[in-house]
Amino acid sequence: MLNLGVNVDHVATVRQARKAAYPQPLEAALIAEKAGAWGITAHLREDRRHINDADLSSIAANVRHLNMEMAVTQEMLDIALKLKPHSCCLVPEKRQELTTEGGLDVLGNFEWINAGVKQLMDEGIIVSIFIDPELAQLEAAAKTGAEYVELHTGSYANASDKEQEFELNRLIRGAEFAKQLGLMVNAGHGIDYDNIAGILKIPYLHELNIGHSIIARAVMVGMEQAVKEMLDLMVEYPG
Ligand code: PXP
Repeated sequence: MLNLGVNVDHVATVRQARKAAYPQPLEAALIAEKAGAWGITAHLREDRRHINDADLSSIAANVRHLNMEMAVTQEMLDIALKLKPHSCCLVPEKRQELTTEGGLDVLGNFEWINAGVKQLMDEGIIVSIFIDPELAQLEAAAKTGAEYVELHTGSYANASDKEQEFELNRLIRGAEFAKQLGLMVNAGHGIDYDNIAGILKIPYLHELNIGHSIIARAVMVGMEQAVKEMLDLMVEYPG
């Protein structure tokens, strides 16, 4: 079965557009769970542009599986070690970016990332590393001992019609290699109600993390319906 993790960051983005008290990411998270989402993902960014510390604590206390997306900084490691979410997904972070751009360079920052993975795993937190489907990065991710990788699907999601097949084949090869290395495979970034058809051709997937498209759809049809529509598309995954 393919699990859905719903990323609720952009509920907080709407709130922060007015610096208001609503909408609350926790409320959206609870509706998403009720609609069948396996997990809830939230990214506490260094600049707190959407999710803030109080959001993260309230979500952690009230949902079944919180996946905390975080940069590998000492500040974020300290927060995660205190909060003990179900899992942490390690991502790169740049202040100027609109959203996460590209996967983590595990190879180029091995010592620091390896130490961060160990600290989290020592506290019983499941660790996933967000990476591009590159063989050398996958090998480096496996060397840290992290159980999961999340394959960055943004290049596929943003590809022109001509490039899409190439990007999808990279993801398929990446998932196959990750499996050979003993890694569990998640995927996320830019997945929507249309391009998910290609994503479902990637083998060995355990979980998809989807945010923007679900929150955008929720504006039109409500959170519960938006989550259910995505789950309906995922149900045919051959596994
Ligand atoms: N996975 C990771 C690691 C991400 O950084 C993001 C964006 O926060 C997502 C999944 C969700 O991406 P999207 O909002 O494009 O569905």
